[in-house]
Amino acid sequence: MSKDSDTSKLWGGRFSEATDAFVQRFTASVGFDARMAAQDIAGSAAHARMLHKVGVLTDAELADIERGLTQVQAEIEAGEFAWSVELEDVHMNIEARLTELVGAAGKKLHTGRSRNDQVATDIRLYLRDACDAIGTELTRLQRGTIELARANTDTIMPGFTHLQTAQPVVFGHHLLAWNEMLERDYGRLLDCRARLNQSPLGAAALAGTTYPIDREHTARALGFDAPTENSLDSVSDRDFAIEFVSFAALLMTHLSRISEELVLWTSAQFNFVALPDRFCTGSSIMPQKKNPDVPELVRGKVGRVNGHLVGLLTLMKSQPLAYNKDNQEDKEPLFDTVDTVLDSLRAFADMVPAIVPNATAMREAALRGFATATDLADYLVRKGIPFRDAHEVVGKAVAHGVEHGLDLAQMELATLQGFCRDIDADVFDVLTLEGSVAARDHMGGTAPRQVAAAAERALAKLTGR
Ligand code: ARG
Repeated sequence: MSKDSDTSKLWGGRFSEATDAFVQRFTASVGFDARMAAQDIAGSAAHARMLHKVGVLTDAELADIERGLTQVQAEIEAGEFAWSVELEDVHMNIEARLTELVGAAGKKLHTGRSRNDQVATDIRLYLRDACDAIGTELTRLQRGTIELARANTDTIMPGFTHLQTAQPVVFGHHLLAWNEMLERDYGRLLDCRARLNQSPLGAAALAGTTYPIDREHTARALGFDAPTENSLDSVSDRDFAIEFVSFAALLMTHLSRISEELVLWTSAQFNFVALPDRFCTGSSIMPQKKNPDVPELVRGKVGRVNGHLVGLLTLMKSQPLAYNKDNQEDKEPLFDTVDTVLDSLRAFADMVPAIVPNATAMREAALRGFATATDLADYLVRKGIPFRDAHEVVGKAVAHGVEHGLDLAQMELATLQGFCRDIDADVFDVLTLEGSVAARDHMGGTAPRQVAAAAERALAKLTGR
């Protein structure tokens, strides 16, 4: 280590030797926080205008700072900005370049603020933009899902519990179940956005500042709903990051469930749907293969997002007030979560509307596995038989069917009457797949007309998004 005083640093005054080269690299964040440059510049511009308004900066100083920030922004956008690890993070890189460009005025920008409130502001602005971009893609996926449901309100498939054939449903009903998961995700995204949209600017290092700042002014200028309440909390709070990643973990969990179904359904064994070739890849050895890579990869990506959630919770656990350097570790998991969610949603929003259902295969599958057994029991209940007894009767009929390779609808009336004398010829109406789905004719049920109405309600919720 050199003994020279470290004058290259914006904070070098009290130091008598240069930072160890490795420590410099180890503590720097510019390698990943440079992605918040646009937010950092917007925050600085708002801070400078506020300082001018309260009389801390002159007209000329504000003009210099604004001109300088505009140029820094242009350099960054053009890829000409020389990022420096010696300047540690995005904040000091931009401030140093500003001072290089405009001189003395640049050195006044940091009056009445700290990197602690600055970074908290930048992350909130960044995440707010990310929430909006994610909201757009999520809505696009929902719209595609609902449209596909609308086109499949009477495409019959087996509904499953325990992945065993349970009762017939229509494919549109299944798709609208996916949409319900996504609709809740959208609500959580909005909640998260609303809570994060407060301005920490003015909290300064931790206690506030001695300058006559106007926190409402900067909050409004940056599109925040209000300034945050408490300066200590403002610089230390990362709840919004945890909330965002927990929203993301649940969304990715939903996408993984949808993925799993698509992987199953595209297999030769199910053959319920096909995915267009553009969403699949082949095998380098098996010429026949068409692999559902997109859903498989999304299913896998939930792992990293869940990991980031645990990582952030653990990062914040036991941290004393107020800002600690630990918090610099919030960014990589956050950014990776944003990227992962945006990419996964984009892939899904493109792919889901392109799903090609195989109505014949779905129907044949629904005809196997005694999917209408519950309908027979319900039929017997309508004839006055207690449900438990009806359940027993149908169980016997199913056992007979298993033994003789017959579905319920394929049995002779006399055979069925052998299990219960109350069965009449009208039983065959309830044993058909169409009769079974149409009979579940209430809000939330799988009757085609209910599913059509549900699709309209779901679409209506998307208007204005
Ligand atoms: N790079 C830092 C971070 O990401 C910025 C804030 C640093 N503040 C400080 N007092 N060292 O958290």
